[in-house]
Amino acid sequence: MILKTLFTALLSCNLFFFSSVSFAEEPIKPIKAAVPKDKGMVELGKMLFFDPRLSKSGFISCNSCHNLSMGGTDNIKTSIGHKWQQGPINAPTVLNSSMNLAQFWDGRAKGLKEQAGGPIANPGEMAFTHKLAVDVLHSIPQYRGRFKQVFGAENISIDMVTDAIAAFEETLVTPDSRFDKWLKGDKEAIDQAELEGYKLFKESGCASCHHGTAVGGASFQKLGVLAPYKTTSKAEGRKEVTGKNTDRFVFKVPTLRNIELTYPYFHDGAVATLEEAVNKMGQLQLGIDFSTEENAKIVAFLKTLTGKQPDFKLPALPPSVNETPRPVPFD
Ligand code: HEC
Ligand code: HEC
Repeated sequence: MILKTLFTALLSCNLFFFSSVSFAEEPIKPIKAAVPKDKGMVELGKMLFFDPRLSKSGFISCNSCHNLSMGGTDNIKTSIGHKWQQGPINAPTVLNSSMNLAQFWDGRAKGLKEQAGGPIANPGEMAFTHKLAVDVLHSIPQYRGRFKQVFGAENISIDMVTDAIAAFEETLVTPDSRFDKWLKGDKEAIDQAELEGYKLFKESGCASCHHGTAVGGASFQKLGVLAPYKTTSKAEGRKEVTGKNTDRFVFKVPTLRNIELTYPYFHDGAVATLEEAVNKMGQLQLGIDFSTEENAKIVAFLKTLTGKQPDFKLPALPPSVNETPRPVPFD
């Protein structure tokens, strides 16, 4: 019995050794499963992520625009916010967003906690104020109890709200994609065309910007390195953060994890299909015109990056009470 355990342990050690060697040389690294630091906080963050009462209308939650049943996006060109306002920019996925060097297309928020306060108070998104959002939560006894359990405080603060949402978002990682299985040594996990697509992706230079665990998210890069990108969108990327003209049209390189689910593409959402996104990237960033066959192979490879989607019980939200401020959907 002991011998057998020892043998199995040795074997798995060995497997681990080989598997880590197999992707050591690759520009893309497999995603590790999330290990939640504080389960109570994650559960509370999940409730807040799904709770539309954090918006003025009582109708829009984080999940409205980052639908976790649809790859963490809304699958529309630019998001719809309070009173059906059309937003200025495409909603990036919240999946694997903890791996980004900064949040938003222009990287104006450092981390998930800093980001999470933004949409609640953004007049074009949830259109609330932090104070009113906290007042709503505070009026609901079950929320007060939860916050007390997690943070040990009688009063709820926006800081706690954003801490909890960020803790939940950190769990939204998507391991076990077919490509990750291949990286870890399962050579059957992807087929020949997909493998050739990966080789094209590496050899053409895509991986110079899209690399690492998230296959992106690690740097800011110019959109339109070799040919200008034509758009009607007013977004100027990093320039809005640094004020520098050289940062015009410099955006955070988006993650390509789950890219098959997060259409439409680019910051203006103007690119409807993955085929077109790959063609545009070839032309604008690398000066390459891919043949139809090459394009199809790269697209096939990109689809192997779809990982295990968040899988959890939908949170049951506590009801409002008589004292809870009522939603204002129209004003
Ligand atoms: C009305 C739609 C809408 C709502 C509601 C909304 N978001 Fe977003 N979210 C967006 C858009 C659009 C962006 C991109 C904005 C930009 O880059 O300037 C974004 C960006 C993000 C990002 C950055 C991802 C990245 O890769 O840079 C995160 C994380 C995020 N939202 C989380 C949340 C959370 C948490 C909530 C709820 C508190 C929320 N969002 C509510 C539309 C929305
Ligand atoms: C010089 C850096 C760079 C190179 C090289 C590059 N990309 Fe990109 N990629 C970006 C940036 C920046 C964006 C965001 C564009 C925007 O803001 O609209 C992007 C966007 C994308 C998107 C859309 C992602 C989304 O969520 O909207 C896809 C797909 C993509 N790239 C694939 C590729 C492929 C395939 C290649 C190789 C043919 C490639 N990229 C080469 C920097 C690069």
